[in-house]
Amino acid sequence: MNALPSVATASFDPDVVRRQFPILDQEIHGRPLLYLDNAASTQKPVQVIDAISGYYRRDHSNVHRGAHALADRATAAFEKARMDVAAFLGGAKREEIIFTRGSTEGINLVANAWGRTHLGPGDEILLTAMEHHANIVPWQLVARFTGAVIRVAPVTETGELDLDAWKALLSERTRVAAMVHVSNTLGTVNPVAEMVACAHAAGAVALVDGAQAVNHFAVDVRAMNADFYVFSGHKLFGPTGIGVLYGREALLEAMPPWQGGGEMIERVSFEAGTTFTTLPWKFEAGTPHIAGVIGLGAAVKWLQGIDRDAAAVHEQGLLERVDAALAGMNDIRRIGTAPGRVAVASFLLAGAHPTDVGMLLDQQGIAVRAGHHCTMPLMERLGIPGTVRASFSVYNTIEEVDRFLEGLDKVRSFL
Ligand code: ALA
Repeated sequence: MNALPSVATASFDPDVVRRQFPILDQEIHGRPLLYLDNAASTQKPVQVIDAISGYYRRDHSNVHRGAHALADRATAAFEKARMDVAAFLGGAKREEIIFTRGSTEGINLVANAWGRTHLGPGDEILLTAMEHHANIVPWQLVARFTGAVIRVAPVTETGELDLDAWKALLSERTRVAAMVHVSNTLGTVNPVAEMVACAHAAGAVALVDGAQAVNHFAVDVRAMNADFYVFSGHKLFGPTGIGVLYGREALLEAMPPWQGGGEMIERVSFEAGTTFTTLPWKFEAGTPHIAGVIGLGAAVKWLQGIDRDAAAVHEQGLLERVDAALAGMNDIRRIGTAPGRVAVASFLLAGAHPTDVGMLLDQQGIAVRAGHHCTMPLMERLGIPGTVRASFSVYNTIEEVDRFLEGLDKVRSFL
């Protein structure tokens, strides 16, 4: 293919954006790093790195409990990040933003604190066949504990949710519908607002796993009307080990705490028992990941500082180019071709195991992910062992798409 220049608009220039990511400026196996594993984890802009480093250099202390200047500074930065995240999600309340270790912990929190008090024998948990293990296993564990039953809506050959089948599985027995906003393996964007409305009409609560959504487009939890929404900082240009559970205030209020310890109590007594503090701290036992929260706040601010609509158009341009090329290759089977999907290209190369393709690309400095992507039931449904997945982000360029395609050609030469 002829190389095209990177598409820069007045408000968004991927070359300017990528210069803010120091890690991208290095060689791997003698070639410039080409990072296409963004669905696994995005890289971090210097603003996030500096916020974390600045916190440890100047402001570190424990939060909420000190009577000194550093404790005040750390607490102010920590709680400001919470307000920034609340605004980022479309204007949630402070009480509704719980810091977790990531999407996985957010779902485990809901499955345990909400699930163990609201689910009983015969109650149904509705999932989809494209869920990440993080939105399957916590529900299996709580189903085992409560006697609830899991129902799974099917996925079509093109990697779309069979929405009619999903709706048909909703019934008065459904207590919770948990759904992925964007599939990590396929890039499919599910119609979550419609699904939430249907779940509510059936009397169920709706949890949306937004781990792969928030880095691609703006999310408004109020407009979506989700009861619970989770995401991870490290897929949003922020640190690992930090994430967010948004929960509707009335639901969180009625839920018992999940983990006990310091920070989440009002009064502890062996005689009188323990009472709990208010939201959101009721769900944040122990010293939190303060640097992670501050880094996440910086990531959110950084993201809000770029033109997100233009960035999305840029990412779609990358996807169109890679899709057009892969669709024309006879030895490529594309996995997931849903219209409107985010910039994720999953595929199989005939005669090669995905892991070998990943390794041969790595030898050329190209980082992709190969395997089942923590979606084993989806692999089973599609009858494949795994895929090679190239996942794109704001800092990838058209030139990189072309280099990836050339890299794939070279992989063929080794087979
Ligand atoms: N869930 C992450 C991925 O899809 C790790 O790669």
